[in-house]
Amino acid sequence: MPGFEIFGEEEKQEINDVIDTGVLFRYGFDAQRKGVWKARSFEACLCDLSDVKYAHLCSSGTAALITALAASGIGAGDQVIVPPFTFIATIEAVLSVGAVPIFADIDETLCLDSDSLYKVVTDKTKAVIPVHMCGSMAQIDKIKEFCDKENLILIEDACQSIGARFNGKAIGTFGKAGVFSFDPVKTITCGEGGAIITNDEEIYLAAEAYADHGHDHIGDDRGKENALYLGTNYRINELNAAVGLAQLKKLDFILKKQKENKGYIKNALSNINNITFRQIPDEKGDSATFLSFFAQDEASALKIVDNLNKSGIGGYFYWYVNNWHYIKQWKHLKSLKAPNKLTAHPDKYPDYSSINLKVSDNIMKRTISIQIKLGWSQTELADYTDKLVEAIKAV
Ligand SMILES: Cc1ncc(COP(=O)(O)O)c(C=O)c1O
Repeated sequence: MPGFEIFGEEEKQEINDVIDTGVLFRYGFDAQRKGVWKARSFEACLCDLSDVKYAHLCSSGTAALITALAASGIGAGDQVIVPPFTFIATIEAVLSVGAVPIFADIDETLCLDSDSLYKVVTDKTKAVIPVHMCGSMAQIDKIKEFCDKENLILIEDACQSIGARFNGKAIGTFGKAGVFSFDPVKTITCGEGGAIITNDEEIYLAAEAYADHGHDHIGDDRGKENALYLGTNYRINELNAAVGLAQLKKLDFILKKQKENKGYIKNALSNINNITFRQIPDEKGDSATFLSFFAQDEASALKIVDNLNKSGIGGYFYWYVNNWHYIKQWKHLKSLKAPNKLTAHPDKYPDYSSINLKVSDNIMKRTISIQIKLGWSQTELADYTDKLVEAIKAV
């Protein structure tokens, strides 16, 4: 997840274009901005990248998820199926619109398992959010098949996986909407920002209105624009969009480098017989931000982590006990702790503290992920890989 590793003249130039006009707002000021529309340009590039009709930038990936849910008509009391391995933002987004997160198990893709969806679907289920974790993808064809069969809305959380593809089709384009994040640690960053992509004009229009207090953005007098909906302010500004635009132009380079570096490490690890690799439904389409592997059991995983700690190489994650990415540590969710009352009636929430996700637990206890860096020199990469191999083999 290396966008921040390669800031340079390109980002400065895009920012200077904005500063030169003095227009930081993404809408209006047509004469003053002298043709500089960074948010619009970034959106056009996102459409090209993903081969979709519409893209709308928001102030964060979380804001984009909330907007996608709201624009898809998901609200109070609706059930939304989510995975237990994701950044907590996915769950918060569902709660924010008053809907009810319902957990299904993951499989060895580290994403929602399509078979587990059948076990949790009810007549209140309205949507499914598969999360394409750590740069790779869910078995999205099967998840889409399930959604089509059950008449459910599919929203892909692709916040960690821009540039990933399944059978040549961009991740984020399989359902009603897909969402990216451009926060500071993502594949490309604009400081803070996110985007919704969709081929559905209604969703797009609802999203771009919702994220700007319901404005319809028709005409050149903001005060006279129509109010389509009650909404909120999840607008991106031109400075953040400018950085994102420069970064998006570097995405091909980033993906190529990540794939090379990941390939090198994976090759070295493939001779070790006490680990197996995460399943990747389409290896060619992996964006390669992480390399994830499974130890034989929890004890072995802990020993590998201990060896890695001692080696001091950094850049690895044992998600099972991470406070932010796996349900086990989400104590605030388990007690529904929020500073205000959550929107759905408390009866509508399942008892998250007693939820049983044995299959996911068993996978996550054994999972270790290695972050793939762009900036490694050949020597650093070789050194890192040697230490990694040593740490794993010693178990
Ligand atoms: C899977 C996932 N969903 C949503 C988000 C939220 O994105 P943001 O940080 O831009 O709000 C993140 C960010 O880490 C994420 O990893």
